[in-house]
Amino acid sequence: MTLILAPAEEADVLKLAAIYYDSFRYDPYDRALFSDTHKEDAVNYLAEDDLYAIRNDPQTRVIKVTESGTNEIIGYARWEVPFKFESEEAREKAKRPNALPPFPASANGALGTHFQTQLSERKKKYMDTEKDYTLVIIVVSPAYQGKGAGSILLKYGIEKADRDGARIYLTAAAAGYEIYEKKGWKSLDDTIVVDAEQWGLPNGGISKTVCMMRDAVKASGHDS
Ligand SMILES: CC(C)(COP(=O)(O)OP(=O)(O)OC[C@H]1O[C@@H](n2cnc3c(N)ncnc32)[C@H](O)[C@@H]1OP(=O)(O)O)[C@@H](O)C(=O)NCCC(=O)NCCS
Repeated sequence: MTLILAPAEEADVLKLAAIYYDSFRYDPYDRALFSDTHKEDAVNYLAEDDLYAIRNDPQTRVIKVTESGTNEIIGYARWEVPFKFESEEAREKAKRPNALPPFPASANGALGTHFQTQLSERKKKYMDTEKDYTLVIIVVSPAYQGKGAGSILLKYGIEKADRDGARIYLTAAAAGYEIYEKKGWKSLDDTIVVDAEQWGLPNGGISKTVCMMRDAVKASGHDS
């Protein structure tokens, strides 16, 4: 199986969103947020969010991994590169208001807004958007996990950050935590906890999202 890395295009967003939905079904937060019976609503919401970022956010880089045999997209990542906005107005326009697109009626909008607020607060607290990179999203289709696509998507940003001598911030869901530790991220000892049952999902379980930072590493031997 040959895996190919390429920039994602606007036409890809529905496929990317479906991968996101499928790959996060294990997480209590996501299951409490988006119902099992309204996948299309969730996919449309997630696709709209990626599309807005691709079109309007100069910090955003959305990349995809395709399987060469079938030409199928099997995973994607959304990175943010360091960027200095001309004004606060320009920054806000690029990022959208905190509400993102309104959550669909079938989703738990109060939970989604609560979680987005937590993420924004942590981002403000820990990172310098003019200097640090951020890994915003990384997902691989469940059927293709463990075959190297995630590593390719991670390497894309790690190489750029190391070349710039920059840090990389992320918030790790359970499936990512050990992989990030292996690649040099450290926990900031700050975890966003969501008890899905409290948000209306009986026996939903506890979701933990850990704030992590990978310190700057000076690359040696290449300069492009
Ligand atoms: C996290 C995720 C993106 C990793 O993608 P992937 O394609 O499965 O990862 P890879 O196959 O490139 O493996 C990356 C590393 O993790 C290891 N790994 C992969 N699956 C693993 C598993 N189930 N348990 C432990 N280690 C695993 C691999 O051995 C590899 O380590 P190496 O670099 O030392 O060889 C993918 O599992 C996923 O989409 N998970 C669900 C969504 C999610 O939680 N995303 C993370 C959000 S923070």
